[in-house]
Amino acid sequence: MTARRILLVIGGGIAAYKSLDLIRRLKERGFSVRAILTAGGAEFVTPLSVATLTGERCFRELFDLTDEHDVGHIRLARDADLVVVAPATADLLAKLANGLANDLASTALLATTAPILAAPAMNPTMWANAATRRNVERLKADGVAFVGPATGLMAERGESGLGRMSEPLDIVAAVEARLGAGASGPLAGKRVLVTSGPTHEPIDPVRVLANRSSGRQGHAIAEAAARAGAAVTLISGPVVIPDPAGVTIVRVETAREMLLAVEAALPADIGVFAAAVADWRTEGAPQKIKKGAGGPPSLALVENPDILATVARRADRPGLLVGFAAETENVVEHAKAKLARKGCDLIVANDVSPESGVMGGDANTVHLVTEDGVESWPPMSKADVAETLVARFAALHGLKK
Ligand code: C5P
Repeated sequence: MTARRILLVIGGGIAAYKSLDLIRRLKERGFSVRAILTAGGAEFVTPLSVATLTGERCFRELFDLTDEHDVGHIRLARDADLVVVAPATADLLAKLANGLANDLASTALLATTAPILAAPAMNPTMWANAATRRNVERLKADGVAFVGPATGLMAERGESGLGRMSEPLDIVAAVEARLGAGASGPLAGKRVLVTSGPTHEPIDPVRVLANRSSGRQGHAIAEAAARAGAAVTLISGPVVIPDPAGVTIVRVETAREMLLAVEAALPADIGVFAAAVADWRTEGAPQKIKKGAGGPPSLALVENPDILATVARRADRPGLLVGFAAETENVVEHAKAKLARKGCDLIVANDVSPESGVMGGDANTVHLVTEDGVESWPPMSKADVAETLVARFAALHGLKK
């Protein structure tokens, strides 16, 4: 079933009046909407308006005996496919970025396992403030998606700039993109999890063990899956390429962080593990290792968790699990062995020997390895590989159901 349950958090800003229209627009499109009205929000719109438009009780208090009895703040947070914060005030963003939970809205935001979409609204000076910038960056790194703010006139007389809440229909479009609900593509209503990029394993505070993965192929797959209608969570190691459109990004550095982020993003219908995860890490020295008379330090390497194999063993393993094999020799033979070892359904194998130019380049030559055999594709751009792979994933996922 397509995900359609929205929990709307209405923060305390003049833009709260637009949230009433947002409720209407969402309901028109068949979403069910429950709303939490913050104390600040209730200064701008009434609980009665919110209850009338949602057709549900307006949720307000953290310690409300009636609500705790028949809904409860944890269930309120969990019984949603998407949490929308609109208006997302500077205060709500700061609370969420720092994990504060001192009222119903902030507690629900911390307790939810659903993705969060924030529509910020505040005075341009507050939006530009270094503290808000830090909070927004941290929230993006934590996987919170944003729509807006837009530029325009402020409620304060004569002021204009970046800080207006996006219009309700723009927020609805972001909701539909996030949930894949409006899309009619082959992955509409499906949740897709993609890992991409390298991992960086610290040697000391200034040095890392890294690899040459650019994240191009994984990011292109994430974007193609979103275009196909899926709700995509992309868990990315450190990359310098732009964020793909329409996906929720969680940024990580190390393999262990990537594993935690992947586990937090489950369940998913399809898992695509395109990241070049470092096989080993060092213990990581707490201070910069100094050059000295003792000669170069020896680095003791420890094996990293295998994220793909770990997910493959879980009870809530995605129905279709795709691994990648970057090899410099015997590409197909190694991929066949990997399919069995990792417990995935499909391996996308490619030749990353230096003469192939695949690592960091724009083109790719891939072989699809399944239990049934090997299919080799002609050289294509990474964007075309992504598009073709996503069409194949949709077909395979359909077959497995
Ligand atoms: O064993 P190898 O690194 O070649 O396997 C590659 C596949 O396994 C890729 O899909 C990669 O994302 C995944 N992998 C992983 N965790 C690791 C190592 C690899 O998820 N620690």
